Amino acid sequence: MPAPRITPSILSADFGRIREQVGEIIDAGASVIHIDVMDGHFVPPLSMGPPVVSALRELGVMLDVHLMIERPERQIDDFVKAGAGQITIHAEATPHVHYTLAAIRDAGCLAGLAINPGTPVGAFDGVELDCALVMTVNPGWGGQKFIPTSLEKVRRVREIVGPDVDLEVDGGVDAETAGPCAEAGATLFVAGSAIFGQDDPVAAYKAIAAAAGA
Ligand code: DX5
Ligand code: ZN
Repeated sequence: MPAPRITPSILSADFGRIREQVGEIIDAGASVIHIDVMDGHFVPPLSMGPPVVSALRELGVMLDVHLMIERPERQIDDFVKAGAGQITIHAEATPHVHYTLAAIRDAGCLAGLAINPGTPVGAFDGVELDCALVMTVNPGWGGQKFIPTSLEKVRRVREIVGPDVDLEVDGGVDAETAGPCAEAGATLFVAGSAIFGQDDPVAAYKAIAAAAGA
């Protein structure tokens, strides 16, 4: 299985000093940063787009772009040009999942597929991907509570996708939930409010990393 890594989500960061905040977490050991893109349709909020990806590019870490947008196939080129390292689309957001994942890989990025809590794990059947993302809350907002039944889902997804791909968990991941997620087969752990919502984000990052075995 891939080595476990934490992917801090900037959704909960202070946007007035985002590069500084992200830089501190990178100095503490983070090698991946999670960027949540929302379109006001697939999920109600609007968040950020390619310019934010470009702004973080110079930090030199893998940018893990989570597209919570409808018809993501129309936006892939812009995120590739902006410097995305991995682009994850939602199974619920397009009838062209296989096509879009192939387009992401053809563009030289890692391709991820995400499923919402109510979406069956069969969405991962028959697609080639680098990362399977199991939403452990309903997408759209940071700071929600981890849905406990997600752990069983993570186990089933690991069986479907096999040992070689990353299995990402996103939502309510903190120093308490990261360990059980790792035991269930997760290797990539998104943490937003549990890092950037804390008084000491570096200490919080380190505690979650220890819990995940990262
Ligand atoms: C939610 C986003 C998450 C969010 C997680 O829709 O996909 O990445 O930032 O936030 P926390 O870690 O606070 O649950
Ligand atoms: Zn996310």
